[in-house]
Amino acid sequence: MTRTDGYLLDNGRAEAAERFDAFATLFDPTTFRHLQALGVGPGWRCWEVGAGGTSVVSWLAKRVGPTGRVLATDIDTSRVAPAGRPPVEVRVHDVGAEEPPGDGFDLVHARLVLVHIPDRERALRSMIGALRPGGRLLVEDADPALQPLLCPDEHGPEQQLANRLRHGFRHLLSQRGADLSYGRRLPRLLREAGLRRVEADAYFPVASPACAALESATVRHIRDELVSAGVASHDDIDRHLANVASGDMDLATAPMISAWGRKA
Ligand SMILES: C[S@@+](CC[C@H](N)C(=O)[O-])C[C@H]1O[C@@H](n2cnc3c(N)ncnc32)[C@H](O)[C@@H]1O
Repeated sequence: MTRTDGYLLDNGRAEAAERFDAFATLFDPTTFRHLQALGVGPGWRCWEVGAGGTSVVSWLAKRVGPTGRVLATDIDTSRVAPAGRPPVEVRVHDVGAEEPPGDGFDLVHARLVLVHIPDRERALRSMIGALRPGGRLLVEDADPALQPLLCPDEHGPEQQLANRLRHGFRHLLSQRGADLSYGRRLPRLLREAGLRRVEADAYFPVASPACAALESATVRHIRDELVSAGVASHDDIDRHLANVASGDMDLATAPMISAWGRKA
C-alpha cells in the first residue's frame, strides 16, 4: 500500500518494535540528557511528536508525574498505545498535515521524525506554535549525508556490501521525500523561527550491538522495496543479514543532531 504521508517504515510490522528498541538503546541516553538539561519536571505539559515506541513517553511520564501531561502523537500509534494511561494520552495525528493537537505546551519533542515528513517546515511551525511563551523545543534528527556509511571502516567485501545496501536504503528514503541533510539545518531553522538560546550537538555510535539489531530489523522490514528498486538481490540481502548476525561488523548510524531552544 502506498502511504500518503511518505513514511516508508510502518509501525504495524514486527520489525518496527525491534527498531524502536534499538533507537531506545542507541539514543535514549542522549535524549534524556537533553530533556533533563531543559528542566522537564513535575507538572510539565509535554507533546511527544511521532512517538514511535514507549521509552521516551514513559520517561517523560515519570518526570512530569501525576500533575503533568504527556501527549504522545503519531500517524500510527500501535507501538506507543501500551503507554496510554495518565499522565499519558495517545492520539493519532499527522504533524505534517494537521493542526497541532493542543497549545500551551512546556515542551515539544520530536526524535527522528521530521526528516521523514515531506512538509517538515509546516510540522516545525506547528510544533513551535504549540509551545507556551518560554516553552522548550527539542528536535533530534538524523543527518545521514554527514556520515552516510553503515561501515565507516570499509575494509572488506562484507563492509562494501553493507555500505551499498545502506546507500540504496537512503535512496528509497529520498524518493519518499526525506531530507538526508536536515539535521545540520536545525539550529538555523530554530533561530529563524524566533527561538532563543538555540544550541545543538550531535551523537552517533561507531560500533554497537544495537546498531546490528537496528540494521537487521530495518533490512528485513524493507527487503521487498530494496529488491524491487534493484538495490540488491534476495541473495545479497541474505548474505548481508548473515554478516550482520555474525557480530564481527563494526556498524554505525547516521549522526543524530539534537537542537533545542526556547520560545520568546
Ligand atoms: C524513525 S521513527 C522514530 C520513533 C521515535 N520518535 C524514536 O525516536 O524512537 C519515526 C516515527 O515518526 C512517525 N511519523 C512519520 N511521519 C509522521 C507524521 N507525518 N506525523 C506524525 N508521526 C509521523 C512514524 O510513524 C514513526 O513512529
